[in-house]
Amino acid sequence: MWSNVLMYFILHFISYMKAIIGAGIGGTSAAYYLRQKFGKDVKIDLFEREEVGGRLATMAVQGQDYEAGGSVIHPLNLHMKRFVKDLGLSTVEASGGLLGVYNGETLVFEESNWFIINMIKLVWRYGFQSLRMHMWVEDVLDKFMRIYRYQSHDYAFSSVEKLLHSLGGNDFLGMLNRTLLETLQKAGFSEKFLNEMISPVMRVNYGQSTDINAFVGAVSLSSAESGLWAVEGGNKLVCSGLLQASKSNLIPGSVMYIEEKTRTKRTGNPTKMYEVVYQAASETHSDFYDIVLVATPLNRKMSNITFLNFDPPVEEFHQYYQHIVTTLVKGELNTSIFSTRPINKFGLTTVLTTDSSDLFINSIGIVAPVRGKDNPVPSTDGTNVWKIFSQETLTKAQILKLFLSYDYAVKKAWLAYPHYKPPEKCPSIILHDRLYYLNGIECAASAMEMSAIAAHNAALLAYHRWNGHTDMIDQDGLYEKLKTEL
Ligand SMILES: Cc1cc2nc3c(=O)[nH]c(=O)nc-3n(C[C@H](O)[C@H](O)[C@H](O)COP(=O)(O)OP(=O)(O)OC[C@H]3O[C@@H](n4cnc5c(N)ncnc54)[C@H](O)[C@@H]3O)c2cc1C
Ligand SMILES: *[C@@H]1O[C@H](CO)[C@@H](O)[C@H](O)[C@H]1NC(C)=O
Ligand SMILES: *[C@@H]1O[C@H](CO)[C@@H](O)[C@H](O)[C@H]1NC(C)=O
Ligand SMILES: *[C@@H]1O[C@H](CO)[C@@H](O)[C@H](O)[C@H]1NC(C)=O
Repeated sequence: MWSNVLMYFILHFISYMKAIIGAGIGGTSAAYYLRQKFGKDVKIDLFEREEVGGRLATMAVQGQDYEAGGSVIHPLNLHMKRFVKDLGLSTVEASGGLLGVYNGETLVFEESNWFIINMIKLVWRYGFQSLRMHMWVEDVLDKFMRIYRYQSHDYAFSSVEKLLHSLGGNDFLGMLNRTLLETLQKAGFSEKFLNEMISPVMRVNYGQSTDINAFVGAVSLSSAESGLWAVEGGNKLVCSGLLQASKSNLIPGSVMYIEEKTRTKRTGNPTKMYEVVYQAASETHSDFYDIVLVATPLNRKMSNITFLNFDPPVEEFHQYYQHIVTTLVKGELNTSIFSTRPINKFGLTTVLTTDSSDLFINSIGIVAPVRGKDNPVPSTDGTNVWKIFSQETLTKAQILKLFLSYDYAVKKAWLAYPHYKPPEKCPSIILHDRLYYLNGIECAASAMEMSAIAAHNAALLAYHRWNGHTDMIDQDGLYEKLKTEL
């Protein structure tokens, strides 16, 4: 009798445990949304083997911190905006300064302080293509914004494809099947415009060419708009803030296995549980959960999680992630690499490069510390902190080639985002009955907001499936349906 009661309590307790693997923006926002949906009594464990924040991280240069990973946020990234507001954080403006594009020989484009001059230069060089480009991006963004309405009405999707389809139908979904290059060529943009304006933006944002899929291409181009922002003190503060606000339990450890196990109640039916086996301080531990959310890219090089005894087996993903190195250098740029103008007349704060530039960097730009409120401006003594993105780790000789002199250099190597190669096949969101995967959304585009959207979706999906609310999942015609509702 007593053992029955005890068993009941144990199972009752166990059956309210949720696990999230990874404490980046995806995992911590998932904790936040799971708490919203499942209420205050469920126990949420969040596993993290390195730092809270994941690909949101800072690096220090002489006592000041700078963003090393995800750095800028679009003004219409509403989940990120909401988090910052709810957590009482502050924002800083992230755009500003003057930009140039280097093609290996010369600066093919240079921004000026005068908006009207920039417009004239653009029109002179590329006709009205930049305006048309802006309209193309706006159109994609407009459709993309529908997700906020769906999610605020609690609707969830069981796959990335269904989510995208609900936003803009087959046209939208088809963007994953085509390269940005072929999409823009078909739309009549010139080779010159694609090489000199579009490729450099893909190189700085995704370390890749215009052969990436058209959807991530549009996301990337939206970063060329004004109003970009970042979190004061570092974007990773959103992750630690969400972790705290969600009242979940951070477990510092590396998850090695997830195993499906059947536990039999004496009186009831056998229940399937997930056993999460993890290593912490070189000891192996494990715990049982009814719902597990994986919020880190699933591949051997990154999360290296093995799924044991699943029926049917959990599919394996081998998505290749792009290797990118962030280097911060405090020094004086040798501007004559880019321009014949005297150093004090250089004026640019960011130099992007074309695919043909044949340089060992993708981009270089002055950055402001995460605490600074000001836009980057060239300093008077000539030394600034520059952020460089490159495919490979820079050698000392390469740094010396870029700088007349430098005091300090730090680097961080990332497996940064998927290597895009359309047609993309997105990983499943539902890996098993109550096992969900967030990072499949990166196949469409990798960005902080995308991870937050995936987290909200996974929390809603887990909740509706748990409660049998099938009418809240994969609904057709949501846009029309919700248009008339207030
Ligand atoms: C250099 C760079 C620049 C970028 N710039 C921008 C930008 O300007 N704007 C933007 O929106 N996005 C940008 N991004 C993309 C953005 O940073 C990512 O899309 C986003 O941070 C991904 O968050 P996530 O939580 O999904 O994954 P992650 O941040 O990778 O989090 C996964 C976490 O899981 C942990 N983990 C992995 N395996 C295990 C395990 N087995 N056990 C326990 N823990 C585990 C990892 O340590 C990690 O902390 C950039 C990315 C990089 C690298
Ligand atoms: C995208 O391509 C896949 C094959 O790779 C095909 O099955 C799918 O129907 C295509 N989707 C669209 C919307 O074009
Ligand atoms: C992945 O984990 C297994 C053990 O679980 C280990 O043997 C292997 O070396 C790991 N692979 C990588 C690339 O870290
Ligand atoms: C700066 O770069 C130019 C062009 O690459 C080179 O000729 C010059 O020697 C460099 N100056 C210094 C001081 O390294």
